Amino acid sequence: MPATVILGAQWGDEGKGKLVDRLAEQASWVVRFQGGNNAGHTVVIGDKVLKFHLLPSGITRKECNLVLGDGMVVDPWVLNKELTDWEKSTGEDPRGDRLYVSERAHIILPYHRFMDSLDSKIGTTGRGIGPTYADKINRIGLRFGDLSEIINDAQWITSTVVRMNASLQAAGSEDRVSEESLSADVNWIWDNYNGSIGNTGLMVDNALKLGEHIILEGAQGCLLDIDQGTYPFVTSSVTSRGNASHGAGIHPGHVSEVIGITKAYITRVGHGAMPTELEDADGDHLGTVGHEFGTTTGRKRRCGWFDMVVMRHANRINGFTGIALTKLDVLGGLEEIKICVAYELDGKEILEMPSSASAIARCKPIYISMPGFPGHSLSEWLEIAKKANSDGIGFKALPAAAQNYISKLESLMGVPCTSIGVGPDRDATIDLV
Ligand code: GDP
Ligand code: IMO
Ligand code: MG
Repeated sequence: MPATVILGAQWGDEGKGKLVDRLAEQASWVVRFQGGNNAGHTVVIGDKVLKFHLLPSGITRKECNLVLGDGMVVDPWVLNKELTDWEKSTGEDPRGDRLYVSERAHIILPYHRFMDSLDSKIGTTGRGIGPTYADKINRIGLRFGDLSEIINDAQWITSTVVRMNASLQAAGSEDRVSEESLSADVNWIWDNYNGSIGNTGLMVDNALKLGEHIILEGAQGCLLDIDQGTYPFVTSSVTSRGNASHGAGIHPGHVSEVIGITKAYITRVGHGAMPTELEDADGDHLGTVGHEFGTTTGRKRRCGWFDMVVMRHANRINGFTGIALTKLDVLGGLEEIKICVAYELDGKEILEMPSSASAIARCKPIYISMPGFPGHSLSEWLEIAKKANSDGIGFKALPAAAQNYISKLESLMGVPCTSIGVGPDRDATIDLV
């Protein structure tokens, strides 16, 4: 069975964790292929709220194998904390049993966090992501597969500490690393992970040959992609379809399905323009009803109307075969719902996302307007979703104005919706196909 790719189609936090958890019921492997613990993926099962930064969201399915893939940057201490929390609540340590870390994945060290803490321009998550990818591109990074070779190499320790401290000093940081701390760190990482480091691309390829179903779990979103996003206000990895198989160590021919996830509106955390951003009562409604606070940093997410220019761009880059629309419930109670269909830039109407950050900042949204629909409590929405699925009536279970809104989005996107999210719970999802 081929691989399914799950990708954020906006600026992140679209609900990837919830969808991966749901679809992982039918999968035997879930693979993260890029990013690191800048990601914050939430899974809600009844009264349990699980937040994953590095662990693939399929961990909730006991039979599912898990990979931190080649294209990732991994903070071993954050991973250890997540694993400890998981073991406390379930009694399971999946390391080396069903959780594998790629020998090609790069390691986030304290140095990278120190460097990232100096950022004030981008509004990064401060988790060391950019500096670790910078070392990777500069070909001086440390990978899990290199640990066994450098662990007793005093020369590597000395020269790395000299390089790191020179960079910290040049960047104006007061933090420093020492030979003792770096040596202790690499030894600790080796002791904790040597049993789970492997050629994960080969494992996944073998599973595909055996006919198993693989999910490739994206982090961030298309507009945060280093090449295709709103540069420089982006993350440091390729978040898009082209990197899903590459970062997992398999070829693109294995991918048959690419699901783009989008909120029924839009949010963004960090700096950089967001043309449909609302600073009014509607924006407050989205932020309050949608509980829009970052899963990783707790920062307030900026909220706005659905942006079709963003979606057009994301769809061109990723060729979505289906769209998972999330957080439709959050729009409930608004009298009017708007969809941005184009921008006005310097007096001209444009349909495509400009590449320059200053041009995006000058873009004004051009809206169409749709009637709103009534609000419900989360438990009412959950019942609506359960009934829709058990009766097999799909989105006909929704209020007429909500159906019209979804149909309008589908016709503007040119891609069908495969599911509609109406609440955070695993079961608050209406399946459409
Ligand atoms: P991710 O990074 O894409 O996995 O998304 P996050 O977990 O960071 O943010 C999505 C938030 O929305 C989480 O708090 C989810 O529990 C919640 N969520 C996901 N889908 C829905 C939905 O359909 N309705 C509502 N109300 N909340 C949702
Ligand atoms: P998930 O997977 C939302 C944003 C940061 C910042 C920019 C660069 O949960 O959707 P970085 O630390 O990556 O160098 O920060 O990217 N960002 C995210 N925003 N969701 C995420 O992940 C994000 N990961 C990074 O806020 O603007
Ligand atoms: Mg998130």
